[in-house]
Amino acid sequence: MNLLAIESSCDECSAAVLQDGTLKSVVISSQLVHSEYGGVVPELASRAHMELIVPVVEEGLRKASVSKDDVDAVAVTYGPGLAGSLIVGISFAKAFASSKGIPVVGVNHMEGHLYSAFLEDKKPEFPFIALVVSGGHTMLIHVKEPFSHELLGQTRDDAAGEAFDKVAKLLGLGYPGGPVIDKLAKEGNPKAFNFPRAFMPKNANGEDGDSFEFSFSGIKTSVLYLLRDLKYSPEKRDEKLVKDICASFQAAVVDVLVAKTVSAARRFNVNSIAVAGGVAANRGLREALQSAASSIDAKVVFPRSLYCTDNAAMIGIAAHFKYRKFGMVSDLTLKPTPNLALSF
Ligand code: KG4
Ligand code: ZN
Repeated sequence: MNLLAIESSCDECSAAVLQDGTLKSVVISSQLVHSEYGGVVPELASRAHMELIVPVVEEGLRKASVSKDDVDAVAVTYGPGLAGSLIVGISFAKAFASSKGIPVVGVNHMEGHLYSAFLEDKKPEFPFIALVVSGGHTMLIHVKEPFSHELLGQTRDDAAGEAFDKVAKLLGLGYPGGPVIDKLAKEGNPKAFNFPRAFMPKNANGEDGDSFEFSFSGIKTSVLYLLRDLKYSPEKRDEKLVKDICASFQAAVVDVLVAKTVSAARRFNVNSIAVAGGVAANRGLREALQSAASSIDAKVVFPRSLYCTDNAAMIGIAAHFKYRKFGMVSDLTLKPTPNLALSF
């Protein structure tokens, strides 16, 4: 069974081919046009998807050595995301599927992130705790079995990746902020500044009503006040200061993510953890969670960086789990759903 998967919810235009649930190819075209604006410009994103979708799909099929006629189903992200960007992927998927008489499977982008760890050889084991940390979401989920999810908590304000992007913008480091902060943090002192850690579990078992909720806007505001007090100017920046701020900011975010994930694993007596979403590429998070998880005998799966940020391979693997559980349900009425929630 050859599955063509498409992802176009934000600024990555991507296609992947899976054969019976095994990844054969993935092509990701990142739209560089947004970097000079400090964030994704929706109008530019949808226009770029229009130009990229055909060559990206053709390259994906070519790399997998699968012809258009040999595709058995198309999976596509239908939300959450930018309406104009989603429309391009969905319209392409529907047109392709109806011209070939094959089914279309709509996939929730967050379910894609959630199942992305299954693209690796070393896979999570059910039940597992998933930490999904992207530019738009921060969620802790108890995944009891395929497509049986319990949302334990999520952010009340900024997502973790959004905090990285906003702090990078304050420091004048460009967009996206995560990778550059990650790099600079390596050379800075994580104890130089004490940024707030919100809703930390009150005890090691996470026994606190709020303990699985997140909030990152306080850290960002704290960085803003620090920069104002220091009369910081991105044009005349002190490299050591920037590295120390990056290291201290990243340490605060990582402390919260690690404490809550480990406390969720303990609370639900689960020894498998999967981390996904763009922030899962963070070096500091990977190191700290790996070591905290080993202290409770839990195993953590971090997908490789390529599968952490938006890509169509994760949409394909989520579609695979979806139709294995619910059967192949084609939906040509699929429409973009920008605020689509995760199914529970
Ligand atoms: O999952 P993703 O590609 O897109 C969304 O669905 O949002 O995540 C993008 C986010 C951005 O906020 C970016 O700054 C962040 O992931 N990110 C990182 C790293 N690489 C990407 N954050 C921290 N450390 C990184 N190495
Ligand atoms: Zn994403």
